[in-house]
Amino acid sequence: MPLFDPAIERILAEFERRAEEESRRTAAPGTPGIALDDLLLSVGREAGTLLYLLATGAVSRRILEVGSSYGYSTVWLGAAARANGGKVQSLELKDFKIEHARQALTRAGLSSRVEFHEGDCLETLKALPGPFDFVLLDVWKDLYVPCFELMHPKLAPGAIICADNMLHPESARPHADAYRRRVRAAGDLDSVLVEVGNGIEISRKR
Ligand SMILES: C[S@@+](CC[C@H](N)C(=O)[O-])C[C@H]1O[C@@H](n2cnc3c(N)ncnc32)[C@H](O)[C@@H]1O
Repeated sequence: MPLFDPAIERILAEFERRAEEESRRTAAPGTPGIALDDLLLSVGREAGTLLYLLATGAVSRRILEVGSSYGYSTVWLGAAARANGGKVQSLELKDFKIEHARQALTRAGLSSRVEFHEGDCLETLKALPGPFDFVLLDVWKDLYVPCFELMHPKLAPGAIICADNMLHPESARPHADAYRRRVRAAGDLDSVLVEVGNGIEISRKR
C-alpha cells in the first residue's frame, strides 16, 4: 500500500524517474562533463522513507533541511511536517532549484508546510533562531562541519540530525568522516551510521 496520497506519490515517482535517468547518463562511459547543478542528487526512496519514519516517529514539528536541491527530500519532509502539524525550513543556494521545488511542493499539496530560504546556508543558519527538532543535512559536503557548528546550539533536546552521503560517493568520504568525528566529539549527541541510501549518520541530542 502506498505511504502517501496519489498527489505526493506522483511527484515522488516523477523525481525518481529523473534520478534513474540521471544515474544511467552519468554512469555511461565517455559521458562529457556533467554540471552538478543539473542533477537532482536526491537522497532516494530508502533514505526518504527513513527520514519520514524518524520525523513522524519523533513527532518533529520544527524541521530544517540544509540543501533542498530540486525538492525531492523536501517532499518527504513536507509530508512529515503535515503529519506532525509542523513546518520545514529548507535552505538552498540556487534560485532555479527553489523554483522547481516550490512547484513540486505545490503539486504535492504541501506548499503551506515548507518555507524556502534562498542563499548561502551558513548565512541563513546564523539568522534562523531555531530551535530545531529534526535536521536533514544534505548540502555540499565541505559545509557539514561549519553547518553543524551553527545548528548545534539551536537543537532542541531530543532533536535528530540525519546527515547524508556518509558512505557514497567515495570522494565525499574525508568530509563525511570529519563530520562524524565532530558530532561524536560534541558530547551531547548519540550517533549511529546506517547503511541506507548513500549512508546516513543519525544523531540525537540528549
Ligand atoms: C545533494 S544536493 C541536495 C539533495 C536534496 N536534499 C534531495 O535529496 O533532493 C545539495 C544541494 O546543496 C546546495 N548547496 C550547495 N552549497 C550551498 C550553500 N552554501 N548554501 C545553500 N545550499 C547549498 C546545492 O545547490 C545542492 O542543490
